[in-house]
Amino acid sequence: MARLCQALLLLMVTVALLSRRIQARDSPKIIRKFQNISKSYVYVQQALWYAMKEYNKASKDSYYFRAVEILNSQEQVTDSLEYYIEAKIARTMCKKISGENENCLFQQNPEMQKVYFCTFIVRSKPWKFELNMLKKQCKDV
Ligand SMILES: *[C@@H]1O[C@H](CO)[C@@H](O)[C@H](O)[C@H]1NC(C)=O
Repeated sequence: MARLCQALLLLMVTVALLSRRIQARDSPKIIRKFQNISKSYVYVQQALWYAMKEYNKASKDSYYFRAVEILNSQEQVTDSLEYYIEAKIARTMCKKISGENENCLFQQNPEMQKVYFCTFIVRSKPWKFELNMLKKQCKDV
């Protein structure tokens, strides 16, 4: 009898875990829709840092790009925190081959200057140090 109970309990736990996983794989439930949030909020800054890291990783430009300014930032709460960021980004004078550098100056030479307007959505689970890019879209200004 005790063994049957144990088996049933195990089954119930398994079903509960599985259904939670299935739920998580669909789009997560929105607890609070996107709304404006301070551009200087620490998780907005972290999301932007991550977005630029991914942007630079994917871009074929031989120079790093860096955000000039955040134009709009919003937060949505699901089972994660999602950050919608509109930002102006520009080419710096730091070449990618010389490695990452926080203090890269923007290009001064008009021929080398390049500015894009970008929209990023970053999903963040700060409590797990997890960051994912949901959207990355940049266009010429
Ligand atoms: C959210 O911020 C954007 C950009 O700063 C602004 O244009 C918009 O009016 C704001 N929306 C609300 C509801 O405050």
